[in-house]
Amino acid sequence: MSTIVEPVLQVDVWRGDEHGRFQRFEVPRMESQTVLDVVIHIQRHVDPTLSYRFACRVGMCGSCAMTVNGRARWTCRTHVSKVVAHAGAVLEVAPLNHLPVIKDLAVDMSDFFDKWRDAKGFFHGERTRHDAFATVDPGSPERQAADAGIECIGCGVCYASCDVVAWNPSYLGPAALNRAWTLANDVRDTTQQERLHAVSNDAGCHSCHTLGSCTERCPKGLAPTASIAGLKRLGGRAPKGGRN
Ligand code: SF4
Ligand code: SF4
Ligand code: FES
Repeated sequence: MSTIVEPVLQVDVWRGDEHGRFQRFEVPRMESQTVLDVVIHIQRHVDPTLSYRFACRVGMCGSCAMTVNGRARWTCRTHVSKVVAHAGAVLEVAPLNHLPVIKDLAVDMSDFFDKWRDAKGFFHGERTRHDAFATVDPGSPERQAADAGIECIGCGVCYASCDVVAWNPSYLGPAALNRAWTLANDVRDTTQQERLHAVSNDAGCHSCHTLGSCTERCPKGLAPTASIAGLKRLGGRAPKGGRN
């Protein structure tokens, strides 16, 4: 059974846009309390003007990511006890890095998802609704490579943790490149050459320095670093920039 160490938690929450500041709140400490529980308590019981984003509260939608004590995390699955290690320690909650702050804890995810589009992170097949389903061998190396990266929830934790995004704002980033890798392994897709071209420029896979912050911090246990390495290998092997 876990132990409640302090009846009240001191919480610093970012307020305003990127030129804002932290505001201190006191929140009752609860057992099994998540960081999102704390944010929700403040908005519902202390300051209803606090802006933030969440939907599922069970680690599926990817909308609740924030910077918690300096590190990007999914807040609905992050227990306070994991990040506030000792009595009297302060919980600090801020918006995700590398994305414009709309207000308080809510960031504008447009750049993040625009880069999925720029990386051709969408399926393009050739069959119509009148054709039979295309079958994919579940045991094939391509299917297994795609499966390894497919459970991305689009939370942006990897993107906010990537130094190259900070240095080069045009860098497509780990999530978009991971998505491109899953599609590069989809044998039904007909746009492999365009996709490989899209992810092989200066903003693409070759800018990754492979230190792996994205992989270390992905809450779904995915490995964008490995996906990006796969894209590099694919680009190196392609005679004219793609498979087809
Ligand atoms: S391994 Fe590549 S994509 Fe991942 S955080 Fe580092 S530079 Fe960014
Ligand atoms: S790869 Fe992981 S950290 Fe990045 S957006 Fe997807 S689920 Fe989130
Ligand atoms: S609220 Fe959906 S993943 Fe956290």
